[in-house]
Amino acid sequence: MNPKLASVEKVLSVHHYTDRLFKFRITRPQSFRFRSGEFVMIGLLQDGKPLLRAYSVASPNWDEELEFFSIKVPDGPLTSVLQKIQPGDDVLLGKKPTGTLVLDALTPGKRLYMFSTGTGFAPFASLMRDPETYEKFDEVIITHTCRQVNELAYSVEMAENLIKDPLIGEMAEGKLRHYTTCTREEHPHTGRITDLIESGKLFSDLGVPPLDPATDRAMICGSMEMIKDTAALLEKAGLTEGSNAQPAEFVIEKAFAG
Ligand code: A2P
Repeated sequence: MNPKLASVEKVLSVHHYTDRLFKFRITRPQSFRFRSGEFVMIGLLQDGKPLLRAYSVASPNWDEELEFFSIKVPDGPLTSVLQKIQPGDDVLLGKKPTGTLVLDALTPGKRLYMFSTGTGFAPFASLMRDPETYEKFDEVIITHTCRQVNELAYSVEMAENLIKDPLIGEMAEGKLRHYTTCTREEHPHTGRITDLIESGKLFSDLGVPPLDPATDRAMICGSMEMIKDTAALLEKAGLTEGSNAQPAEFVIEKAFAG
């Protein structure tokens, strides 16, 4: 492996949520700098060759360790092997984190929406633990939609722990709203986020006004279809897509799968 492209890190912990989802934490080299919400290449040596895929960093940029939230694809070249990692194992960590789901790519606003499906929640697990998110916005609404209730476990656990956190909990208190929905099982809120935006149910459930480009900013992370459909609704509401080079009212990133 070219040491200019990746470093070898140690797995510190692994937690399996379902037969399709797990999280793991690895050592973070001191030289590794990133902005909360960015992604990086992660991988393993397979038959002596590096096999890497893009993963959103799920931990915030102040954390001494790095956390990732992954799907397990039974015949996925990387995730079929990665899902078997144990503490002490080696993983490869790319040296160039990048991405558009960063606070810098949004113009100032009052309310920040983070719309996610499946493992698309990962970059928001980073941003929801970053104090800068609460410094920049009065209200932070994170939506997470999955097919089944057990697939929400990572984000539910994250939101519960965050409020108990002595530093971030205080900043997030009264600002952070976590809205979960399921599409194929019973749950207090059901349905696709796109349908809930379109019908206005999301806003009435939360007791907030409809989307407004003057106050609202958004980030979207999920499947290509989910991004396309959600972005179209934001555009209809008058929000424009931004980037690192040209900050605007919303940004998108595909949820990466191995
Ligand atoms: P659904 O069950 O109605 O397909 P997936 O695992 O396929 O990536 O889906 C994760 C979640 O995203 C599911 O709840 C799924 O709903 C939802 N979803 C899939 N496609 C879209 C879309 N185009 N717009 C909004 N939500 C979507």
